[in-house]
Amino acid sequence: MESNAYVDYGYLRQLVFNVSQNVLDASRDYLFETRLTRVLRNQGMSHLNELVHKLRAQKDAALEREVAEAMTINETSFFRDLRPFELLRQELLPKIIEARRSRRTLRLWSAACATGQEACSLAMLLLEHFPMLVGWSITIEGTDISSEVVQRAQAGRYQRIEINRGLPARHLVRYFDHVGEDWIVKPEVRKLCCFRQANLCGPSLPFKRAGDCFDVIFLRNVMLYFDLPTRRNLLAGIHRLLAPDGVLFLGSSEQPAEMALWTPVLAGGTCHFRPRQPS
Ligand SMILES: C[S@@+](CC[C@H](N)C(=O)[O-])C[C@H]1O[C@@H](n2cnc3c(N)ncnc32)[C@H](O)[C@@H]1O
Repeated sequence: MESNAYVDYGYLRQLVFNVSQNVLDASRDYLFETRLTRVLRNQGMSHLNELVHKLRAQKDAALEREVAEAMTINETSFFRDLRPFELLRQELLPKIIEARRSRRTLRLWSAACATGQEACSLAMLLLEHFPMLVGWSITIEGTDISSEVVQRAQAGRYQRIEINRGLPARHLVRYFDHVGEDWIVKPEVRKLCCFRQANLCGPSLPFKRAGDCFDVIFLRNVMLYFDLPTRRNLLAGIHRLLAPDGVLFLGSSEQPAEMALWTPVLAGGTCHFRPRQPS
């Protein structure tokens, strides 16, 4: 197939939207070339046209997913934006822990966890500052649409460049093992975290509320990829999964689409959201 033949980027953008609800800007169509290199190689193809042709010719849900996942942006780091973690440590978690004293259960969710640094940061925060939680049932769920990043999160293996971004030196020493060129999270961190693939925009969210809602949800730096109806729908689902006294953190430039459901709280130089209860 001709390398300079017309590529139907509109088709690819629509495909990505259908699978992951990520809205890609036409001005960044050039990203398809670089991000889909591996998909093309796996398919034994050399040009995007061939891929579009194949996708059009016959429905292939696995290949569609592979394309959509390859187009996700998985940027993350340990203790990203620091302030939410500090606020949790100083103010929010002590109150939540006090309120859960008789149940001795805590559930946190890093929704769109990418390679797992956010969930691991929460685990380290709990281990480092809340020794009274020994013996509690603690779960930090990490979910992401991309199977590749979820596998990396499950492996808990990080390169020096990832470690250098945001991880305090004392945490590195205490919570990681140096293996070859990389660093691997120790079992005490890993056992608090549970990573799996899940689409935040599928027909239903990956958790059902059956008495075990979340105390803390991090939904950071993902809503910017969604359109307004998708954000609205997602935030309504998140609202149902959050405990009445739970807290939601969004990315520093993000806002709930539907403010009627949320009370924004400015504290600790950051903003978090409390679920409003129907009156
Ligand atoms: C920029 S990263 C944010 C990671 C982390 N929350 C943080 O703030 O550091 C965005 C993540 O959202 C994931 N994502 C995009 N669309 C998604 C969807 N529909 N469902 C679940 N995850 C999605 C991507 O795979 C990517 O790993």
